[in-house]
Amino acid sequence: MQAETYPPGLDRATALPARYYVGEAMLAMEHRAVFARSWQLVAHQGQLAEPGDHVVEQVGHVPVIVVRGQDGVLRGFVNVCRHRAGPLALCNGKGARALHCKYHGWTYTLEGQLRSAPEMQGAADFDVADIRLPPIRVHEWQGLVFVALDDAVPPFEQVYGGIAERIAPIDLAAMRYLRRDSYDIDCNWKVYVDNFLEGYHLPHVHPGLSKVLDYRAYDTELFDWYSLQSSPLRNSTAIYGDGEAFYYFVYPNVMLNIMPGRMQTNRIVPLGPDRCRVEFDYYYAQDAAAQARIAADQEFSDEVQQEDIDICVAVQRGLTSGTYEAGRLCPKRESGVWHFHNQLRAAYAAAGEHA
Ligand code: FES
Ligand SMILES: [Fe+2]
Repeated sequence: MQAETYPPGLDRATALPARYYVGEAMLAMEHRAVFARSWQLVAHQGQLAEPGDHVVEQVGHVPVIVVRGQDGVLRGFVNVCRHRAGPLALCNGKGARALHCKYHGWTYTLEGQLRSAPEMQGAADFDVADIRLPPIRVHEWQGLVFVALDDAVPPFEQVYGGIAERIAPIDLAAMRYLRRDSYDIDCNWKVYVDNFLEGYHLPHVHPGLSKVLDYRAYDTELFDWYSLQSSPLRNSTAIYGDGEAFYYFVYPNVMLNIMPGRMQTNRIVPLGPDRCRVEFDYYYAQDAAAQARIAADQEFSDEVQQEDIDICVAVQRGLTSGTYEAGRLCPKRESGVWHFHNQLRAAYAAAGEHA
């Protein structure tokens, strides 16, 4: 294939081949090439408000811990003890004074410095001062906390820049976390992302949602690291309020669904080659109008989500059937899918894989 014609333009684009949606080897490649090389949403600031508050997560194959230090600074570390690879924490927690390894009790400060190691007096040239947990990059944005494992991941602002400005006067930083809904779905993580990235399926999959979005005015814009689908809202005063719906997808696995007075983050986590978890976290403005819509919003969201789950599970069966060859994309409606697939193609190529 000629380098200058690859990847093809939108008018000649095809979807990603089915082989990328199946098999452990492909997912292992993506853990390295995609998840370990991108900003990953791991928490919201309410979980990390005070010194010693910590969150544990898995980024690709790497266990990580994010902890607020005694000095108030948020730090991230690889959650792997320097003794024999035990975990510093197994679950999220509040107000820890130090990080005690769960295996043999080596103790690190909240700043990642080894402070004590029981019964190690007989070890020659062993000094706790020489041992630190490997740090990782952390960034706080609009009440959300992100980490990046690799120094090659672009600066956070380069990835997320422009979103807060675009949605004004909606103010994400003024919204408060309310709750999480999690859905485990029998499809590859990319099937869920692909489905999010186009409104093409709206009239066929979402009869209710089609009534509150304006399909003719539904628009997709592409940016370096994210895409934005937007639509005016109609007939939705009780559910979403009046204004505009913004659906951001930020590479590789974060969605920000923003309505007047409400943000819902979605994080798509692979559980296996043909299974993923979708975490919905709800954040609301504190004004009475936004608060009054919470119940209707969540009920409606659950209905739409069930419709998406059903179609995604069916698509995964199609992809694994052995009968599917990558099909043509609709230039008018699927530019977001094309954009995501090209980001993946670039990430795979950087890892020595070609899509
Ligand atoms: S592995 Fe951490 S103390 Fe042994
Ligand atoms: Fe959908």
